[in-house]
Amino acid sequence: ALQRTFSIIKPDATARNLTGAINAKIEAAGLRIIAQKRMQLSKAQAETFYGVHKARPFFNDLVSFMISGPVVVQVLEGENGIAKYRDVMGATNPEQAEAGTIRKEFAESIEANSVHGSDAPETAAEEIAYFFAGIELVG
Ligand code: CMP
Repeated sequence: ALQRTFSIIKPDATARNLTGAINAKIEAAGLRIIAQKRMQLSKAQAETFYGVHKARPFFNDLVSFMISGPVVVQVLEGENGIAKYRDVMGATNPEQAEAGTIRKEFAESIEANSVHGSDAPETAAEEIAYFFAGIELVG
C-alpha cells in the first residue's frame, strides 16, 4: 500500500547545494515528494523533534548541527515508503552505508549524515504532523 514518510535534508547537504541531487535519488527510487519546504529550525524545534534522543551523549551536538543552517523538510509517498526511503538513505553511519545510497555518496559523518527519515508508521505520522498541515500534503 502507499505509505508516507517524513524526510529532512540536513544542513550539511543544503550547504553543499545537494537538495536537487538528493531529490533525484528519492524520485528515481519511485518515491513522490508530496510536500516540501526549506526552513531554518529553531533550537526549540530541533530539541522537540529529536526529543527521543534527549538522553544520548550526541544530543546537544545534534541540535547545534541541525540549527547550523537551513534544512528542507519533506513528505514522501510510495509503496512501502518508510522502508524504501531507509534503503535510499543507507545506514546512519555513512561508513556503513551501501554504494549508491544518499549517505554513502553525500554524508560527511554520522552526525552530518545529509538526511533523516522516519523509522516507523507512528513516528512518520508524528513527524509529518509536526511540520505540515494536512492541506499541504498533495499526493
Ligand atoms: P537521524 O536519522 O536524523 O536520527 C538521529 C541522528 O543523530 C542521526 O540521524 C545522526 O545524524 C545523529 N547522530 C549523531 N551521532 C550519532 C550516533 N552515535 N548514533 C546515532 N545517531 C547519531
